[in-house]
Amino acid sequence: MTTTKFHPEVYTQALTSKSVSYASPSNIALIKYWGKHGVQIPKNPSISFTLDTCKTTTKLSYIKREEINDEYELKVILDGKHKPGFEPKIHQFFGRIESYLTFVKDYAFTIETSNSFPHSSGIASSASGLSALALCLMEMEREMQPEMTFKHFNQKASFIARLGSGSGCRSLEGPLVVWGEHAEIKGSSDMYGVQYPYEVHPVFDNYQDAILLVDKGEKPVSSTVGHNLMHNHAYAASRFEQAVVNLSSLISILETGDLDAFVRLVESEALTLHAMMLTSNPYFILMKPNTLQIIDEIWEYRRETGIPVCFTLDAGANVHVLFPDKDKEQVHEFIKNDLSKYCQDNRYIFDSVGSGAIKL
Ligand code: DP6
Repeated sequence: MTTTKFHPEVYTQALTSKSVSYASPSNIALIKYWGKHGVQIPKNPSISFTLDTCKTTTKLSYIKREEINDEYELKVILDGKHKPGFEPKIHQFFGRIESYLTFVKDYAFTIETSNSFPHSSGIASSASGLSALALCLMEMEREMQPEMTFKHFNQKASFIARLGSGSGCRSLEGPLVVWGEHAEIKGSSDMYGVQYPYEVHPVFDNYQDAILLVDKGEKPVSSTVGHNLMHNHAYAASRFEQAVVNLSSLISILETGDLDAFVRLVESEALTLHAMMLTSNPYFILMKPNTLQIIDEIWEYRRETGIPVCFTLDAGANVHVLFPDKDKEQVHEFIKNDLSKYCQDNRYIFDSVGSGAIKL
C-alpha cells in the first residue's frame, strides 16, 4: 500500500485559528498488536473496543515562527505543568510525520494535555494522547485545505496517530476498530485503523470494561522494547498467524453474539500476549500476584453465576474486565465487593465501549 495519498496537496487557505482541541479515548484490544516492523507497521492485524471514559483532552496552540531552523519548536504541558520529559517523544513523532504534515516546522506549538484517568494509574496514555494530537494537527491541515473529504480526514488522522503510537490509530472511531490488513475485513490496512465493517450482535452494544488498577508503577518494559522482543522470537511466526485466524473467528462471534466463544478467544489472546513476554529473550513477567488472583476469581464467578464475564490484559499488570451491559449491576457489585481488594489503593475505573474522538 502506498502512502502517497497522505502527502499534502498544496494548501489553498491560510490558517486563521490559533488553537484546536480534541478529546480522544483509549482503547482495549481484543486481538493484540504485539510486534512491528518498518515504521510502525504491525506484524499482525488487531481489533479493539474503543473506550468511552478513559480519554486524553489536548489543546494545541500554535504561532507562526519568525525564524525556521532544523528543530521543531514545541512545549508539552500536562495538567498545567510543563513536562520537558515528554518532549523528546513528540520531537520523534514530528520527525516521522513531517513529510505528511509539512507545516510542523513552520509553527511553535504548545500542547496542553490532560488525562481523565490518573497519570500514575498504569493506564497507557500514548494511544489516547497521540491520537488526540494527531487529530489537532489534522484539523490544522483541514483548515488549510478545506476541500478535504471526511473520509480522507479520518484515514489520514489515523495514519498520523499510528506513527506516534500503533494502538493510537484505533482510538479515533468506535465502537470496534481493526488495524492491519486482513483478507476477510474489507478496507483493512496496515497504514490506519478502520471501523469494523460488519454486523455486530446487540449483546455487544454498550459492552462494559472495568479497569482494575493492580499496579500503578512504571512498566518494566516499554511498548517499544516489548514489540522488539518479537524479532527473533521462537514463537513469533505462529503467533502472527494465530492472530489472523483469531480475527477470522471473531467475525462470526461478533455476528452471532456467541459469548462463550468470545470469552475463550479474548482470554486466550491476553494470555498469549503475556506468553510471548514470558518466552522472549530477555523474558518478562508483567503480571503481579494480584493479577492472577483476579483471574482466578473471575473464573470462579463465571462458573458460579453463568455470567459471561472475562478478562483481558495489556502489557502490564492491570486487568480489564469485560461483560455485557445487561449484567452491569451484578458485575459492578462483584468488583466492588470481591475484586477491589486486589487493586492498589482499591482503585478501579468503570468504563464502557465508546464512539471515538470528538472535537471540542
Ligand atoms: C499490548 O501501541 O503502545 O497494548 O506502537 O510502540 O506505540 P507503539 O506500541 P503500543 O502497543 C500496544 C500493545 C498492546 C496491545 C494492543 O493494544 O493491541
